[in-house]
Amino acid sequence: MSDEGIAKVFPPREEHRKGVPIKSEEEYKRIYDESIKDPEAFWAKMADRIEWFSKDWDSVLEYDEKDVRISWFKGGKLNITHNCIDRHVNNGRKNQAAIIWQGEEDDDVKVYTYGQLLYEVSRVANMLKAKGVGKGDRVSIYLPMIPELAFAVLACARIGAIHSVVFGGFSSDALYNRITDCDSKVLITSDGGFRGGKAIDLKGKANEALEAGTTVETVIVVRRTGADVVMEEGRDFWYHELLADAEPQCEPEVMDAEDPLFILYTSGSTGKPKGVLHTCGGYNLYTTVTFEHIFGYQPGEVYWCTADIGWITGHSYILYGPLSAGATTVMFEGVPNYPQPDRFWQVAEKWKVNVFYTAPTAVRMMRKTGDDWIKMHDLSSLRLLGSVGEPIDPEAWYWYYDVVGGQRCPVVDTWWQTETGGIMISPLPGATNLKPGCATKPFFGIEPLTIREDRSECDVGENGRLVIKRPWPSIMRTLWGDHERFKDTYWNVYPGYYFTGDGGRIDEDGDVWILGRVDDVMSVAGHRIGAAEVEAALIGHPAVAEAAVVPVPDEIKGEAIYVFVNLKDGYEGSDELRKELVAQVRHDVGPIATPKIIQFAQGLPKTRSGKIMRRILRKIAGGGMHEDLGDVSTLADPDVVDQLIAGRIS
Ligand code: WT7
Repeated sequence: MSDEGIAKVFPPREEHRKGVPIKSEEEYKRIYDESIKDPEAFWAKMADRIEWFSKDWDSVLEYDEKDVRISWFKGGKLNITHNCIDRHVNNGRKNQAAIIWQGEEDDDVKVYTYGQLLYEVSRVANMLKAKGVGKGDRVSIYLPMIPELAFAVLACARIGAIHSVVFGGFSSDALYNRITDCDSKVLITSDGGFRGGKAIDLKGKANEALEAGTTVETVIVVRRTGADVVMEEGRDFWYHELLADAEPQCEPEVMDAEDPLFILYTSGSTGKPKGVLHTCGGYNLYTTVTFEHIFGYQPGEVYWCTADIGWITGHSYILYGPLSAGATTVMFEGVPNYPQPDRFWQVAEKWKVNVFYTAPTAVRMMRKTGDDWIKMHDLSSLRLLGSVGEPIDPEAWYWYYDVVGGQRCPVVDTWWQTETGGIMISPLPGATNLKPGCATKPFFGIEPLTIREDRSECDVGENGRLVIKRPWPSIMRTLWGDHERFKDTYWNVYPGYYFTGDGGRIDEDGDVWILGRVDDVMSVAGHRIGAAEVEAALIGHPAVAEAAVVPVPDEIKGEAIYVFVNLKDGYEGSDELRKELVAQVRHDVGPIATPKIIQFAQGLPKTRSGKIMRRILRKIAGGGMHEDLGDVSTLADPDVVDQLIAGRIS
């Protein structure tokens, strides 16, 4: 279907208003205006959506603009696991399913009620305490999508330890960097995991990561695959053995709203990953309130977010947001196309999923495999569909709405980031006119703006840079150990604003369109990858003199990785070498960063000061000709451009 065939606006229908908190555009506008006029009053009122041990905070918001010190509800006391577990147990939801865990094999299923979740989390919390973990200690977690991952995360939060989850698809090097950056005391991992019918090794990679020597004193190993693993005497312990001695009662640690909750590493425009730090109170409140409003969760419903807990989406909208709101959340171990391309729909039908939240890359993949795989399933339980992680093109949006949602379900295209902690721009199902491909409206208290390079405000419809006007409760507080980088990356680019790194446009209805990254960060299948990290891996190969990495459009993944390498003298480009380079990137960064295309080049376009012009390479990789490249006269050697165009691989 062509673009013109898709309606431009889909107003909320009567049935979309049922049971959701905001029931009309007017209501949204009224509350939004209030929230912007006096954000502190708004959030102080909202604070009752969660329980506090003490609401005696010094002030709702403290914001020191100069040093960018932000605190919300400082002096208020709470524990996020009290909100995610105990308060539901205390309020009649003890026997309601909290987590439905669906393993990769269909009969591999575990359901944990809120009562059972309290039992499991408390035991793991006591197990960590017995290993000397206390408030403020860092714990790295490198696990597949098994229930123990959820328990480990929540157990850390319960005792005030700071968790740092490292996505199971990351390499040993990536794990090493993430352990040493925050000096973790404990690593929780497993003998392996299952993915697409194959067992993957995690303990081997963990061992490699720890080889060079780290601060990790204790490794706790969950048995999942039964693979033979090397355990180091005195350092490594089996999870199930330690758990056997753990008591099932563990009072939640009393945390200040501004105590750290977790670190989550994400890619930036240098090779060094950034340890994004989130704190307890504002994050708990914001993820709860956004979950309730944007997904319109209703008691008894089953909610499924297909992300991995290794990413922020999994932290905020598999675990903390849904559990705090008392939802039943599905945790899925598998992949979309195993054993068959209908796996998502089969699982959605089986558990009668009402709210389904996934990434555009998965939508495009399933659209490609054909409608028959969907039509064989009864998806009438679906009430709402969500999208996150990258721009969703109108074609994919409409297919999702039409074929998956049967034209009944609103599609919420939610824009946010690891740094923002929770959803920032998104439709509200009962209030917002949906536009395919558009993230639409800011959430309460969020004031987005598009600006020009010179910091002046863009006109309606003009493409610019997306910034946010003031701090909101779940904004990151700092980068672990590097407050200067935090200020430089996010606050000093356009002083007075939080800079998102994304381009954006605001249309005549005040709807925000996200235009993708304007920095050297790529989004491959919704995974954020820094060009510099891939380049660092390539340069690690003995044949490579220099490398430049740019994204190219990809039908399924949104973006794919295109690599230009300039070899050292004495080396010859070959398919053999290509394979070695791919292996190098997979080893250093992880399989998610596998390059799609490697072009050998005699030279790279550089400014006279030696800076590689990725802007030009991006256009060349994407099929641009000389005349499409803009001004190349500032290049040190303008001739390389034609050589690169001639050598392009499509
Ligand atoms: C970047 C953040 C937090 C979700 C998982 C990704 C892109 C995210 C959308 C959307 C267009 C989106 C942006 C953003 N992005 N959601 N709905 N429409 N782009 O988190 O790894 O921190 O990446 O993902 O470019 O800056 P992340």
